[in-house]
Amino acid sequence: MLTKQKIIHSLLAESWVSGVDVATRLGLSRTAVWNHIVSLREKGYAIKSDPKRGYKLQGVPSSLYPELVSYGLGVKRIGRQMIHHDLIGSTNTEAMRIALDLSDGTVVVAEQQDHGRGRLNRKWESVSGKSILFSVVLKPDFVRPVEAYKFTMFVAVSLSEVLIESTGIDVDIKWPNDIYVKDKKVAGILTEMSAEADTIKHVVVGIGINMDQSSNDFSGDLKNAGSLSMFVQSIDRLVIFRQVLSKLDFYYDKFLNGNFDTIFSKWKHMCTTKGKTVRFKLKNVPVVGVVDDILEDGALSVKVGGGDLVKLYSGDITIL
Ligand code: BTN
Repeated sequence: MLTKQKIIHSLLAESWVSGVDVATRLGLSRTAVWNHIVSLREKGYAIKSDPKRGYKLQGVPSSLYPELVSYGLGVKRIGRQMIHHDLIGSTNTEAMRIALDLSDGTVVVAEQQDHGRGRLNRKWESVSGKSILFSVVLKPDFVRPVEAYKFTMFVAVSLSEVLIESTGIDVDIKWPNDIYVKDKKVAGILTEMSAEADTIKHVVVGIGINMDQSSNDFSGDLKNAGSLSMFVQSIDRLVIFRQVLSKLDFYYDKFLNGNFDTIFSKWKHMCTTKGKTVRFKLKNVPVVGVVDDILEDGALSVKVGGGDLVKLYSGDITIL
C-alpha cells in the first residue's frame, strides 16, 4: 500500500492521529509525514493540524481515489489494485493497453473520459464527477473465448443487485447487457478481450454508471439515457462504487468456483427482454419478432414470422 494511502486510512480510522505515531508506524520522519499532509491537502483532503493533537481528517474530495475506495473494502481480487485517472481517453483502452502487466481484478477508474467507448463503436459520454467510469482486468485461466458473455452476465447481475439493494428502485437488464431503470439506460457494460486460439489472455470489462447527469448532459440522440439521480434523491458515488466492487468480487469468486448456474438464473430473472416484441437486423434486413427465450449460451432466441426461431448472439435490439 502506498504511504499516502496508509496515512488516509489512519486518518479515517481515528479522530485525531499524532504526527509522531504516523511517522513511527510508517517508518518516516515527521517532516516527511508533514509533506504528505501538504500534498494530500492539495488533492482536496481537508486535514486539520494541531501541535498537540496531531492531524484530523475533516473532509474528503469527491473523487474516487483508491485510498478512499479501498478503505476497509476487504475484496479478494476485484479492486485490490486500483489505478486512478482524473481524465483519460477511455479506461477500457487503457486497461487493454497495460493488462499484461496487471494482476487479476485490477481496476482502472477515471473521473472523466474524453473518448469513452460503448458497444457497437458507439460513444459513451461523460461529464467529470457525474458518473462512475471504470474497467476491470480479469485473468481467469479456464474460460474459453466463446464463454466471454459470462463475464458480462456476472457484471450485469452485480450492478443490478447493488442498485436494487442500495436504492430500492426496480432495475431491468435489457439483453445483452444494458441496465435500465424504467425506460432509461443508467449503466452499460463493454466487454473486450485478448485471446489466442482457444485461450483467453485477459478480459477487460468496462462499466459506466450514470449517477448525476441531467437530460441536458446527454446528446440529443441518446434519448434513452438517464441517470440514477433522476430516480433516487441522494446517491453517493463513492458508496455505490465500493458496493459495486464488493459485489463484483463476490460474483467473480462464484464464477471462478464453477457456480455460473446461479449467476445465469439471477441474470435471467432480472432480464426483462423475454416475451417482448423486438426489432433487429438480420444480414442488414430489419426483422420483427417476439423473444421466446434467453439461452444458457447467452443467445436471444426470437420467434419471427412463420414461427422460425432466430438466435442472436450480439448486436442490438429495439424493444417495440
Ligand atoms: C454500452 O452500453 O454501450 C457500454 C458502455 C460502457 C462504458 C464504459 S465507461 C468505462 C469504460 N470505458 C469505456 O470507454 N467504456 C466503458
